[in-house]
Amino acid sequence: VFAHLLPAPEDPILGVTVAYNKDPSPVKLNLGVGAYRTEEGKPLVLNVVRRVEQQLVNEASRNKEYLPIVGVADFNKLSARLIFGADSPAIQENRVTTVQCLSGTGSLRVGGEFLARHYHQRTIYIPQPTWGNHPKIFTLAGLSVKTYRYYAPATRGLDFEGLLEDLGSAPSGSIVLLHACAHNPTGVDPTTEQWEQIRKLLRSKALLPFFDSAYQGFASGSLDIDAQAVRLFVADGGELLLAQSYAKNMGLYGERVGALSIVSKSADVASRVESQVKLVVRPMYSNPPIHGASIVAAILRDRDLYNEWTIELKAMADRIIKMRQQLFDALQSRGTPGDWSHIIKQIGMFTFTGLNAEQVSFLTKEYHIYLTSDGRISMAGLSSKTVPHLADAIHAAVTR
Ligand code: LMR
Repeated sequence: VFAHLLPAPEDPILGVTVAYNKDPSPVKLNLGVGAYRTEEGKPLVLNVVRRVEQQLVNEASRNKEYLPIVGVADFNKLSARLIFGADSPAIQENRVTTVQCLSGTGSLRVGGEFLARHYHQRTIYIPQPTWGNHPKIFTLAGLSVKTYRYYAPATRGLDFEGLLEDLGSAPSGSIVLLHACAHNPTGVDPTTEQWEQIRKLLRSKALLPFFDSAYQGFASGSLDIDAQAVRLFVADGGELLLAQSYAKNMGLYGERVGALSIVSKSADVASRVESQVKLVVRPMYSNPPIHGASIVAAILRDRDLYNEWTIELKAMADRIIKMRQQLFDALQSRGTPGDWSHIIKQIGMFTFTGLNAEQVSFLTKEYHIYLTSDGRISMAGLSSKTVPHLADAIHAAVTR
């Protein structure tokens, strides 16, 4: 009955790993998916995560019962505090509904479906470019997807004028997807002053912000600094949605742990929102898995574990920043034509190199370096040992 099916293309990001895995070359390098690697090129399980997992295994009272539809209560409370700040008026006034979801993607999807069912506007504006999964998630959730200008290839920076113009002409009430920090794929974020202008524009036009926060702690190394944009929007008392992921900042990629928060105008509305979000979740996956959220809750609950986590998180962020400098220096020392200063200016996990699709395929064919066709490289996949190989490849690609 499925004989009519055509083979579907691989995912533009996860498919890069599929191609990488098939390559027998000993020098192959995967800079596609945004996943942290150590200096030895190995995936990293944080020490604090290992420690908590040991504790969880030994807790006799733990069982494998179903979680409530909204997930681990403590995890939800602590996740909201982490992103909004413990002193957030929205939290103190019980205006936040937080629901444990399947990492960032699941949180975006549940939020999207909730909006499609209950919000008066069905259009969501996403930045151009954005994470490749965003348009697919929101379209399948039942929203209509439009884009706003975000990145200026000429400056390799923010197209702030274009952004203001496009959002300024969006119909009142439209939803606007914003990357909370460390924009994926460009690594280009608005300044604090620009965020303030964006906030004023959105609020004055009653546009509804939907933040995607996948890199808290990864951009600057500080959880508070990376939450500043979100907190600016919460401080004005307005409404917003936020998808939160612990894939990167706790290295819990495969545990699929994240949360959707919806900030309302009153506690009463927030509790009705929660009751309706449960109706979205139950027929989709019933209730979320227990393991990852228990790890996160244990770390966020305990001061020593939390401190240990922030040290390990900062070490990951610092190593990425170091890789930026090393790659920039390596290109400088090779005299590679062009201005490569964006490598050290952009922040977070990715550098948007500016290499075109043809140069990317040259890197893959000739140097066994795997990256997405838009020229994005995951700096977290790079190490001091592999920087020279990448610099040689980029040099060859732009001078050939
Ligand atoms: C990425 O952009 O590489 C990550 O967010 C992983 C993913 O799921 O695409």
